[in-house]
Amino acid sequence: MTDLTPSTTVRTVAELRAALQPAREAGDSIALVATMGALHEGHLSLIEAAARRCAVVVVSIFVNPIQFDEQADLAAYPRGERRDVELAAGAGAHLIFAPAPQEIYPSGFSTAVRVSGLTDRLEGAARGAQHFHGVTTVVCKLLNIVAPHVAFFGAKDAQQVAVVRRMVADLDIPARIETVPTVREPDGLAASSRNARLTPQQRRRALCLHAALRAAERELAGGQRDAALLLAIAGEQLARAGVEPEYLALVDGETFEEVDRLQRDGLLLVAARFGDVRLIDNMPLHVAAGPTPGSRPEEEPSPHRPPAEPDSHRSSGQPDHHRSPAEPSHHRSPGEPSHHRSPGEPDPRYEKTGEVLRLCNA
Ligand code: PAJ
Repeated sequence: MTDLTPSTTVRTVAELRAALQPAREAGDSIALVATMGALHEGHLSLIEAAARRCAVVVVSIFVNPIQFDEQADLAAYPRGERRDVELAAGAGAHLIFAPAPQEIYPSGFSTAVRVSGLTDRLEGAARGAQHFHGVTTVVCKLLNIVAPHVAFFGAKDAQQVAVVRRMVADLDIPARIETVPTVREPDGLAASSRNARLTPQQRRRALCLHAALRAAERELAGGQRDAALLLAIAGEQLARAGVEPEYLALVDGETFEEVDRLQRDGLLLVAARFGDVRLIDNMPLHVAAGPTPGSRPEEEPSPHRPPAEPDSHRSSGQPDHHRSPAEPSHHRSPGEPSHHRSPGEPDPRYEKTGEVLRLCNA
């Protein structure tokens, strides 16, 4: 059994590969959760999902300078490694990879990984495609460095997941990409490292993002499929709060192309600024969900509901996961069954997620 508990922090590619070698030789499934630190409930839900599925969970903490389009945003990005390591370990991380910028981009570094098309729209149009090129370059490197069986990404950054999936497919990277539902604060605001920078008044106004998405979702549940009308309903909520979005768009859930009418599942995306804090949010619009009389568009938070499981088949959004900050993270106690097993030996913990298990062990 690989001894990586409670959690080990490594800073170099060589150290990381050496630390993972026993797990790899034992045939243990390895997960990657890539983050830029400043961990919150959204990140922790990814780590917990990874810990439920794979024997070894690697969390990378790296504020990737090349994906920031604004230097001020990079400079203001919250950093606090000790807290992050504790939170990650509490959620089930075994190994923290926290490299210095020079480890990832040593002198002479001259390669970029770029996905075209998808990266020009929405976030790419608002921030410049360079943002996604920075994301794909670092994610490609992290996937090569960690060589995980599965990598977990949040539906909160739906376009990022779509771009990463495109890259992984196009470059034949042998990792499975899993999407984990958006975690929201109890009042609906999507958890984000940037929320801490909102003034109380900005934070109140920012609730209009979720309100706008919910309003469109309700309209869809009532049978409305027309994109212009759904967008108008959502736009009204923003206008009421005096918020001019950078974009508010309804796209096809598979292609990310804007649609005139929802024929199949779509995704409603919004970006807006609150002072100098830029927030994004999105909501999957499931056509099959409406118009069923009495159907509930988005489930309300329930302490009894188990956390939603990632759905590997959906490339875009997920139903959201409301989670109160007080909800405990998954702590592995000494008596809890080990995730480790011999190569090919099925782990009873994973019986219910057969497909994921097979791929974890692929
Ligand atoms: P970061 O913003 O730190 O996010 C790390 C991961 O957490 C991403 O997959 C993101 O979608 C997910 N996440 C953030 N907020 C979430 C929420 N409220 N609910 C669920 N998941 C959430 O995204 C990045 O870092 C970077 O671009 C990275 C992929 C690490 C590359 O540098």
